[in-house]
Amino acid sequence: MQAPGYPIVSVRNLSKHYPLRSWWGGKASVFRAVEDVSFDIRPGETLGLVGESGSGKSTIGRAVTMLNPPTAGTVAFEGVDLATLSAPAMRRTRARIQTVFQDPYAALNPRMSVGNYVAEAFKLHRPGMRGLERREAVAGLFERVGLEPRFAGRFPHQFSGGQRQRICIARAIALRPSFIVADEPIAALDVSIQAQVVNLLQHLQDELGLSYLFISHDLRMVRHLCHRVAVLWRGRIVELAPSDLLYENPRHPYTRRLLGAVPVPNPAAERARLAAANASPAAPIAEGGDLVEVAPGHFVAEPTGGAAA
Ligand SMILES: Nc1ncnc2c1ncn2[C@@H]1O[C@H](COP(=O)(O)OP(=O)(O)OP(=O)(O)O)[C@@H](O)[C@H]1O
Ligand SMILES: [Mg+2]
Repeated sequence: MQAPGYPIVSVRNLSKHYPLRSWWGGKASVFRAVEDVSFDIRPGETLGLVGESGSGKSTIGRAVTMLNPPTAGTVAFEGVDLATLSAPAMRRTRARIQTVFQDPYAALNPRMSVGNYVAEAFKLHRPGMRGLERREAVAGLFERVGLEPRFAGRFPHQFSGGQRQRICIARAIALRPSFIVADEPIAALDVSIQAQVVNLLQHLQDELGLSYLFISHDLRMVRHLCHRVAVLWRGRIVELAPSDLLYENPRHPYTRRLLGAVPVPNPAAERARLAAANASPAAPIAEGGDLVEVAPGHFVAEPTGGAAA
């Protein structure tokens, strides 16, 4: 056990480069999808990761879970550098780090009953478990995620999108993980269902003490769900702060621009915001430098190259 407040996940100087082959036979180069990213996630904390499409959010998610290991930098889980683990130790650790993806239908096996899909986690990681015990565990998981256990014999196509995501969540929590990467877990769902799935994630967090890396385009949902938020821009974190600080006092020009896309609920404030936005044409955003702590826990990359805030 670790002291309270000790990070469960610690990412330091993580970079992910992809080889870029030239298609005309020229010199190959590398594409820097993620560059020098550092953050911590504390027990029971949800860290939001936001940024435009292609900014490297999923790349970070896959690097943190070692599904696609980083090119450089370290990922420590419960204080242990994942790169130093032996294969059996990594297998055990894998059970404690799970991912929930955007498209539950793609994650499920269309030819496997959903009960068997969830039970597979136990077959792979708890070989000593007996059939009856496994069935009871699966029924318990179904109840926990708000599904009727009697539906366990059904196949993925017989469920709604929201129910399918609940099944994926049941499988993700089966082995009692302490950390879940949720990569756009609600983006493919009907708006009316999104809040239900987010509530479920929150409820499970309270119940099981989970930590989340919550990747999302939905800035409102991120504010609602996340304790802290990291803003990613072209593979780099440009701002990292507690949610309220970030939303009330965004400091980096890119964060301001990103949040400017969210309408303000107060009509007078919204009019003032739009007037201000129209009055000052968007400043060019320069590449962020090293992060500077501008207030306790509020980190901002120093805009360079004369980017006006
Ligand atoms: N296997 C790969 N090989 C080469 N380039 C890749 C690979 N995977 C991702 N990329 C590139 O890395 C960048 C970051 O991709 P990533 O999927 O992490 O973005 P994202 O922020 O998750 O975007 P989205 O919001 O659209 O899901 C993109 O420019 C993408 O084209
Ligand atoms: Mg993505």
